[in-house]
Amino acid sequence: MAGAIAYISRDTDGLAWNKLLEEALGPIDFRTLRAGLGNTDDIEIALAWKPTPGLLASFKNLRMIVSLGMGVDHLLADDKLPDVAITRIMDDGLVGQMSEYALYWGLWHHRDIEKYAASQRARKWKPEEFVDTIHRRIGIMGLGTIGQDTARKFAALGFPTAGWSRTHKTLPGVETFHGPSGLPKFLGQTNILVNVLPLTRETRGIMDKTLFAALPKGAFVINMGRGGHVVDDDLLAALDSGHVSGAALDVFNVEPLPPEHPYWAHPKVHITPHMAGYTNPRTASPGVIDNIRALRAGHPLKNTVDAKTGY
Ligand code: NDP
Ligand code: OXD
Repeated sequence: MAGAIAYISRDTDGLAWNKLLEEALGPIDFRTLRAGLGNTDDIEIALAWKPTPGLLASFKNLRMIVSLGMGVDHLLADDKLPDVAITRIMDDGLVGQMSEYALYWGLWHHRDIEKYAASQRARKWKPEEFVDTIHRRIGIMGLGTIGQDTARKFAALGFPTAGWSRTHKTLPGVETFHGPSGLPKFLGQTNILVNVLPLTRETRGIMDKTLFAALPKGAFVINMGRGGHVVDDDLLAALDSGHVSGAALDVFNVEPLPPEHPYWAHPKVHITPHMAGYTNPRTASPGVIDNIRALRAGHPLKNTVDAKTGY
């Protein structure tokens, strides 16, 4: 039998992955962190989500790491990460969920749903001021797999939609900006900002007071990238001043968000517990299976991660 496949996650038991991989690959030696990894010298492939730093380096015969999330910051934060191929899941199901999350909060803000909920509680029949969709400009930070899907879906609803990336992109129906020089203009025209950047050396802390000040007054912020993108005190100050009208936050600098954090009770903050995109083994496993076969056949891998850029 080929080398063992280890499932390294404290969040889930890996049974669904075991079944799907076995159905595709035949009998496999599947180990999990929860049930015990046995002799780690046997491990050829690690499917990992937030591994303890140093753990993967202790697998002497490891050949490939698969990130069980589309984000890979949880792996690259390990300064002992072994020098083997790093790939990530490519999960259409997760991508769709992420877009749903952004669309939900975007429409929630655009259609004043919070105000209508308050009016209902007060038994008030009070239509809010109409804002034409063509005057609600959406800005997506990060035009990768997820950002492009989200941008396309907002544009399909008729919102003027723009995206910002590191390198130049062309996307039908979406205005594109790139690089630090493209950021101020992109922000200056954005009424609903969606962050779906990866967390890297360049993007950590990017959502700071300068960024919030560059948005038009009353802008709404949706963060489904990573908590480390946000300077929390700067966001709280922008919300308290009214410059930013509200924020939907799925990800946080510290997770779980500590009970004493000011976000919990802030009237303009809407919190979800890192649920915008769940990895779905059904939709994520085909790409992983292809890569396991490719690795064993000596063929090129897909969905590889560039440790230099950090995504
Ligand atoms: P991709 O790697 O496909 O795309 C990343 C995008 O960010 C690219 O457009 C890239 O630019 C851009 N980018 C990277 N660095 C910079 C920079 N310095 N300046 C401007 N743009 C930059 O990522 P995905 O779309 O797959 O995922 C994005 C992130 O979403 C993940 O890394 C993760 O953090 C988060 N995520 C959150 C989830 C949740 O549940 N909340 C679930 C899944 C993911 P370019 O196109 O030029 O390379
Ligand atoms: C991911 C996540 O990166 O769930 O996939 O955050």
